[in-house]
Amino acid sequence: MFLKRLANQKKKPLRVAIIGASGGIGSALVGQLSNSNHVETIYALSRTRLQTLQVDKKAQWLPIDLLDEETIEKAANEIEKNGTVDVVIIASGLLHTENIKPEKDWRMLESQSMSALFAINTIGPALVMKHFAPVLPKGGRSIIAALSARVGSISDNRLGGWYSYRASKAALNQIIRTFSVELSRKNKDAVLLGLHPGTVSTNLSEPYQANNYERFTPQQSAEYLLSVIDQADPSMTGKVYDWKGDIIPE
Ligand SMILES: NC(=O)c1ccc[n+]([C@@H]2O[C@H](COP(=O)([O-])OP(=O)(O)OC[C@H]3O[C@@H](n4cnc5c(N)ncnc54)[C@H](OP(=O)(O)O)[C@@H]3O)[C@@H](O)[C@H]2O)c1
Repeated sequence: MFLKRLANQKKKPLRVAIIGASGGIGSALVGQLSNSNHVETIYALSRTRLQTLQVDKKAQWLPIDLLDEETIEKAANEIEKNGTVDVVIIASGLLHTENIKPEKDWRMLESQSMSALFAINTIGPALVMKHFAPVLPKGGRSIIAALSARVGSISDNRLGGWYSYRASKAALNQIIRTFSVELSRKNKDAVLLGLHPGTVSTNLSEPYQANNYERFTPQQSAEYLLSVIDQADPSMTGKVYDWKGDIIPE
């Protein structure tokens, strides 16, 4: 049953917020947590209203647009009215759009696409941390997990390509590290992690999946990620882990 260890530690069912709840992995996380007895409330945040959640009494939808800080602040304030949240999962992200393609070589580098990827993959999550860290409980374990990617590792980069996506995730990893230092000073039991979900069949990865990679369904990946989140402790803060719980080199 998901997040059992954390709920047992806290001796109460958990309150969880998921940013990017409309995405492949985000919606699978909402689905898995809806079925867990250890979760009391799920705040499912996305740009577009999630119809399926209206039937699930545990999950409540709130609007958020990572390109508009006011909506992030408003969502955090709305949640705080009802109390703290124990777990925040940032499951949003961008790799491609109709007009943006991952760069195969440096001739494809282009300012607007780079800015768009940094806005969603780096700046948006940083602003979520800014507004949601104050909503964590002050005592006892709490966790913020942001979905990053193995390709954000600088030392692991042997293939090249995908400049903007790689760089935006490497920058996210640095934000995670920097934020974690301050968070540890202000809230010593809080943990901030980056997580690589594996290669997962979603809209984001669909055009780029190579056959030689192990591929998960969003449900499988959500299950693995929740298991890593459940095991998280302060020794892990500021670092990036994969779906198995193995550390990803910087
Ligand atoms: N799938 C993989 O193989 C894989 C591998 C490594 C890492 N990851 C990472 O895992 C995370 C989730 O990926 P996924 O595969 O689930 O992707 P996805 O299905 O494309 O979902 C992406 C989510 O990001 C949200 N988003 C985009 N722009 C937004 C904005 N301006 N404001 C608020 N939300 C916004 C989308 O919301 P809307 O519905 O509103 O657009 C959607 O919920 C990403 O960070 C990705 O980089 C995925």
